[in-house]
Amino acid sequence: KQTVGLVGWRGMVGSVLMKRMRDENDFDHIDPVFFSTSQTGQAGPDIGKDIPLLQDAMDIESLKKMDVIITCQGGDYTKAVYPQLREAGWKGYWIDAASSLRMDKDAIIVLDPVNQHVIKQGLKDGVKTFVGGNCTVSLMLLALGGLFEKGHIEWMTSMTYQAASGGGARHMRELLNQFGLLNAEVGAELADPASAILDIDRKVAEKMRSGTLPTDQFGVPLAGSLIPYIDSQLENGQSREEWKAQAECNKILGIDGKPIPVDGLCVRIGAMRCHSQAYTIKLNKDIPVADIEGLLAEHNQWVDVVPNDKQATMERLTPTVTTGTLNIPVGRIRKLNMGPEYISAFSVGDQLLWGAAEPLRRMLRILIE
Ligand code: HSE
Repeated sequence: KQTVGLVGWRGMVGSVLMKRMRDENDFDHIDPVFFSTSQTGQAGPDIGKDIPLLQDAMDIESLKKMDVIITCQGGDYTKAVYPQLREAGWKGYWIDAASSLRMDKDAIIVLDPVNQHVIKQGLKDGVKTFVGGNCTVSLMLLALGGLFEKGHIEWMTSMTYQAASGGGARHMRELLNQFGLLNAEVGAELADPASAILDIDRKVAEKMRSGTLPTDQFGVPLAGSLIPYIDSQLENGQSREEWKAQAECNKILGIDGKPIPVDGLCVRIGAMRCHSQAYTIKLNKDIPVADIEGLLAEHNQWVDVVPNDKQATMERLTPTVTTGTLNIPVGRIRKLNMGPEYISAFSVGDQLLWGAAEPLRRMLRILIE
């Protein structure tokens, strides 16, 4: 059995990863060693079998003993530790949730239902560094994998509706606290069916603009509003989140030459942990909607093609039904007025599962099989 070091398993993505690994009995197939940046020497988590005490996540000598290291500790940790480990001659497999190494030429972005061929070829070529993709990109590729695989996409836009969890655990708390304070502000009026809605609305707007809502994480109120900017500002007018769409999508698919153009606006909304995306897709030929639905449905076992019907959409294509599951519903597929080669689609996916933890544990399974 391979010795697998786990770093950053206590945080939000790490905890989701741990739960998935327990559910899939991954720990039966490895000798896990848990690392910590603060609790060296203490007992590790309960995974149903004996494990060593927590090791120091900053200690290169301990890390060097691992066959595989899987980290959800974040980009700063990766930047601090990864180069030292490689310089020290470590030849093991590094599986990382953070974005720092994603675009390195020596790293592969893992999303095996979509790029198993790229991963397998990389392993043959001696690639040792495997990084999870940006959540919106991974969720988009799982939803539209059937069209990408067949080479039917000439270009596409993705307009996103991204959940609070993409910012982190504290962002989710802040959103809920904002919702709670807004509700409390008009609690008495809401309880009275005769109260005037415009008075309620005015009080809510005043509260949102009062500067008294907690905004340490998001910078501005999100509850009852939205934020059409995610991640840092680039020189070319894109946000960094928007830049990732084309860069990572093409890298995941192993497209070296002429990239498929992918661009759009990334927007934070008040959902908890499901990212949604509205697509405009330019196909390179006129394909009937039923055929498109068939291609998407066949591509992987998690995608759920929702008919473009109001009731089905409301029941199956929302963050509410998708959260906490591995399902990737995709629907609203129809031809647009621009012409027969233009279609719309809409997808939802759990940002912590397929958007973060799941591709990492599946990469581990590929390595140990
Ligand atoms: N950058 C994403 C977001 C999450 O802020 O929603 C991580 O991929």
